[in-house]
Amino acid sequence: MNQKSLRCLITGGAGFIGSHLAEELVNQGHKVTILDNLYNGKQSYHNKLFNKIPFLKTSVIDEEVIDVLVSNHDVIFHLSAILGVKSTMDKSVELMETNIDGTRNILRSALKYDRKVVFASTSEVYGKAAPPFVEDGDRLYGSTDKLRWCYAVSKTLEETLCLGYGLKGLRVTVVRYFNIYGPRAKEGPYAGVIPRFISAALKGEPIPVYGDGTQTRCFTFISDAVEATIRALDEKCNNEIINIGSQSEINILDLAKLIRNLTSTSSPIVHVPFEEVYPLGFEEIPNRFPDITKMSQLLTFTPKVSFTEGLNETIDWFKNNE
Ligand SMILES: NC(=O)c1ccc[n+]([C@@H]2O[C@H](COP(=O)([O-])OP(=O)(O)OC[C@H]3O[C@@H](n4cnc5c(N)ncnc54)[C@H](O)[C@@H]3O)[C@@H](O)[C@H]2O)c1
Repeated sequence: MNQKSLRCLITGGAGFIGSHLAEELVNQGHKVTILDNLYNGKQSYHNKLFNKIPFLKTSVIDEEVIDVLVSNHDVIFHLSAILGVKSTMDKSVELMETNIDGTRNILRSALKYDRKVVFASTSEVYGKAAPPFVEDGDRLYGSTDKLRWCYAVSKTLEETLCLGYGLKGLRVTVVRYFNIYGPRAKEGPYAGVIPRFISAALKGEPIPVYGDGTQTRCFTFISDAVEATIRALDEKCNNEIINIGSQSEINILDLAKLIRNLTSTSSPIVHVPFEEVYPLGFEEIPNRFPDITKMSQLLTFTPKVSFTEGLNETIDWFKNNE
C-alpha cells in the first residue's frame, strides 16, 4: 500500500461510513477534505469532526466546484449518495439523478487530472441473483415499475461508468459494501435494520421485523469496511470491483432476538407486513452472502470484528448518543 501522505477528498464524508473513513485516514497521516451537502442531516458528532477535518458544504452535483476540488487532491473516495430502501420509494428521481450525475462529475474530473477514485457501490447491485454473490456474476432485478430497484439500477450504471472510464485510463476501484453497521449508523425511517432495532430496543418500543424475518444478511463492522476501503487504493485494485463484506450470516428475526438479549430490553418483537411499510410495492432480497475471495486476495484482508463485539460497541454508542 502507498505509505506517503495523500491529499484525500471524501464525498459524503459527513455520512456514516465517510466520517469513519475520514478519521482513519487522518490517523494514518493523510490530509483529508470532507465534501457533503448534509442532505442526510447534521448530527451531533459533526461539530467534533469538522473541528479537526476541513469540511465543505457543497453538492457533488456542482460540476465546477467538483472539478477544482478533484484537481487539488490525489485520491477521491466517492461515497456521497442518496440511499436506503425508503428513499427508493419516496425520492426515486432525486436518488437516481444525484447519484448518477455526482458520479459522472467525479469520474470526468478524475480522468482529466489523473486522480485515483474509490467508488462506493453496494451488494444491492446483485438484486435477486442466487448467492453467494461473486463480483463477475450475473445480476437479477425485478420489474421496472417496482421502484425499490432504482438504487440498484443507479449504482449498476455508476459502476459501469467507472469501468468505462477505467478503459479510458482512469485508476478506479469499485467497492461493493455488504450491510455496514457500527457507531453513527443513522436512526430513523430511512435507517438500516440494525440502528432501527437498537433504537427501538433501547426505548423499550416494539422491535419491528419486516415480513417473516427469514431473510438473511451478512453484516460488516464499520472499522473493517474502512480498512478494506483504504486498502483498495493499492494499484493492483485499479479497474476492479471488490466485495467488502463478512460471511457471518444471520436472519432478521434472529438479529432482533440477539439485539433484544444484548440490550436486556423487554421490547416485544413484532412482525410488520411489507405492504404496510412500503405501500407502493416491494420485493425483498431473500439472502445476501458475499464471495470474499477477491477481498482476501487483492486487499489481503478479512473482517476482524466479531458480530457480537461489533453490536455491543454499536449499542454502547446508541446508549450515549441517542
Ligand atoms: N451503509 C451501508 O451499509 C452501505 C451499504 C452499501 C453501500 N453503501 C454506500 O456507501 C456510501 C456511504 O453510505 P453511508 O451508509 O455512509 O450513508 P450516509 O447517508 O450516512 O452517507 C452519505 C452522505 O452523502 C451525503 N450526500 C447526499 N447527497 C449528496 C450530494 N448531492 N452532495 C454531497 N453529499 C451528498 C449525505 O448527506 C450523507 O452524509 C453510499 O454511497 C452508499 O450507497 C453503504
